[in-house]
Amino acid sequence: MEIVNNIDSIRQKLACSRRQGKSIGLVPTMGFLHEGHLSLVRRAAKENDIVVVSIFVNPTQFGPQEDFESYPRDLERDALLAEEAGANFIFYPTVGEMYPQKYETFVEVTELTKELCGRSRPGHFRGVTTVVTKLFNIILPDKAYFGQKDAQQAIVIQQMVRDLNQNVEICVCPIIREKDGLAMSSRNTYLTPEEREQSTVLSASLEMAQQMIENGERDAERIRKAMEELILSKDKARIDYVEIVSAHNLKPVQVLSGKCLIALAVKFGATRLIDNIMVTVA
Ligand code: PAJ
Repeated sequence: MEIVNNIDSIRQKLACSRRQGKSIGLVPTMGFLHEGHLSLVRRAAKENDIVVVSIFVNPTQFGPQEDFESYPRDLERDALLAEEAGANFIFYPTVGEMYPQKYETFVEVTELTKELCGRSRPGHFRGVTTVVTKLFNIILPDKAYFGQKDAQQAIVIQQMVRDLNQNVEICVCPIIREKDGLAMSSRNTYLTPEEREQSTVLSASLEMAQQMIENGERDAERIRKAMEELILSKDKARIDYVEIVSAHNLKPVQVLSGKCLIALAVKFGATRLIDNIMVTVA
């Protein structure tokens, strides 16, 4: 496995593989890899000849009050894990390589980004779609892999690819969880032991919602309220949102039908956690 910092040199190396008829899979990440990321790398390795993992803590997707500076970083450990999972290249550019002086072009998905996380993180998805477009242009992957953990991100990227005719197949992979249900995230390392213990209420609230739906409940507000009540039974939890939305346009539904996304964002101390489930109701 090779670690490549430079845009021209990763392009050259991949052009060589492409000429040999090899397919290329891309797994974009911000590093500090865990089993969630590695599940994407393993899937990419199964489905492609060459796997590129990008590791780039992308400044344009962080708000001014967010954790860009303190975001956890450990390239050495990431390299070992990525190689073990089947990566051939790590693309690890500097901020200056991706955003040189006088940079001024951004990609924006206008409507889907107004909902859910878009409300409390203005500009976040603009940063994501911009950097992902740049990565697509640099790597020219056949397939790119994203996690259902960031459900809105995956939906926004699929919209962008359709709208801009980007020539890449988007593969969305299931959420990988800790044994006690907490969705894996690089940000889980910020949690104090007490917050970590209380954070299991998030997946528990989604399981409860699933159970209510299985028992015939279709009223979104009743499910939402029950989830909020369960989450707020933990004194460290501060709800950003708990929402039940259509998976197509991310707008809230009143009565569950078709494909719905039940999504939440909750702060424990300074740490904002997200989780979700997708349900299909006949
Ligand atoms: P990051 O948070 O590092 O996540 C990289 C990819 O791993 C994303 O597609 C995310 O959905 C997926 N992922 C994270 N935790 C997961 C889990 N527990 N189970 C399954 N998949 C999981 O998302 C980003 O980085 C950035 O926004 C990025 C797309 C790289 C653009 O900068």
